[in-house]
Amino acid sequence: MARSGAARLLVRDLAQLATPGAGPTPRRGAELAAVDVVDDAFVLCAGDRIEAAGRMRDLPSIEGELAELDGSGLCAVPGLVDCHTHPAWGGDRVDEFSLRAAGASYEELHAAGGGILSTVRATRALGAGGLHDRVGRHAGWLLAHGTTTWEGKSGYGLDRETELASLRAVRAGGGSPTWLGAHSVPPEFDDADSYLDFALGEVLPEAAQLADAADVFLERGAFAAAQARRYLEGCRAAGLALRLHGDQFTESGAIPLAVELGARSVDHLEATGDAGVRMLAENDVVGVLLPASALFLDRPMPPGRALADAGAPLALATDFNPGSAFTTSLPLICSLACTQLHLSPEEALSAVTVNAAHVLGLAGDRGRIAPGLRADLTLLDAPDWRHLAYHLAGDLVTAVVRGGVLAFRR
Ligand code: NIG
Ligand code: FE
Repeated sequence: MARSGAARLLVRDLAQLATPGAGPTPRRGAELAAVDVVDDAFVLCAGDRIEAAGRMRDLPSIEGELAELDGSGLCAVPGLVDCHTHPAWGGDRVDEFSLRAAGASYEELHAAGGGILSTVRATRALGAGGLHDRVGRHAGWLLAHGTTTWEGKSGYGLDRETELASLRAVRAGGGSPTWLGAHSVPPEFDDADSYLDFALGEVLPEAAQLADAADVFLERGAFAAAQARRYLEGCRAAGLALRLHGDQFTESGAIPLAVELGARSVDHLEATGDAGVRMLAENDVVGVLLPASALFLDRPMPPGRALADAGAPLALATDFNPGSAFTTSLPLICSLACTQLHLSPEEALSAVTVNAAHVLGLAGDRGRIAPGLRADLTLLDAPDWRHLAYHLAGDLVTAVVRGGVLAFRR
């Protein structure tokens, strides 16, 4: 079969190609573990789309301009999708890291005005230009770890100007912005309710134009369930998809609220018990597991195996942020998913590709290697694609194709 037309990129002679197959999303149960593996494979990209993929011996003859990328000794997986990051911040929390290493707890530091609020001070001081530069730098880190699609939350501004600048910086950096307007109560407000009056009245109208989704930190010391409901209902009425940070330290009603409001996801779940597991299994709200956060804070891991066995739809993400998860590596998250959450490499791959794309409303466009989808590929320097999870903290991402263009090469 001869093909011609737009300029193409051929990734050839791959040791393996591994991808979740076609089917409805979000994936759960046996479907979460269903990964197609092709040995001695190629992927043909045309413009920003995948035109064909399969075995080298079935490679069609191609007419017209063709660039080639030698995939010998490499494996291709779909460009990774990080559906939960906090990339818009100034300063760092290395002093707090040292205090925690000496025994201080994350919640104690937060209650004492450190934690999230210390990053709020540093982020406000950055200004719009500084925020733009920081998010761009963080986007480069994500790409170098194989991430081609990412969500980025605001939430370290908590004033009108810095929240809106954060959302603009995420969009400019290539991410999908989420307005985390309810992350913490900033010091200029007496209580959560008066802060929410301001956020919903003064920030939401413009935030809704800039963001794709809204998120809330439903937790002891942050926002209570009734406050989270008020915030999310306001955001939903303004057209935003809904996400929740829930069950990180305490079960405070995040899962029932997420189900009731039709949220895309509820994220963290380190404290989720049996009833929450059952409720997620019976609904389409995706449980987004963030094992780097549990590791970084030395907290219990979320019940990943119980959720998967019950049939809950799962995604995995970095939770990249300066306080609880200072990592941009989804390959590391896949390792932790296998060793700490007892998921299989196949379940982990689905959770950082097709299901993460579902959480962002993008499952029809990316998250798998299949004709018609966006040409996003992550190439691993490994003889078997499962090294993605097996090579703990390994530098195995050797090249990244995004939208049919070579975007990163080690
Ligand atoms: O997802 N839990 C709330 N927010 C972030 C951490 C924010 C911070 O510590 O700066 C999280 O872990
Ligand atoms: Fe988070």
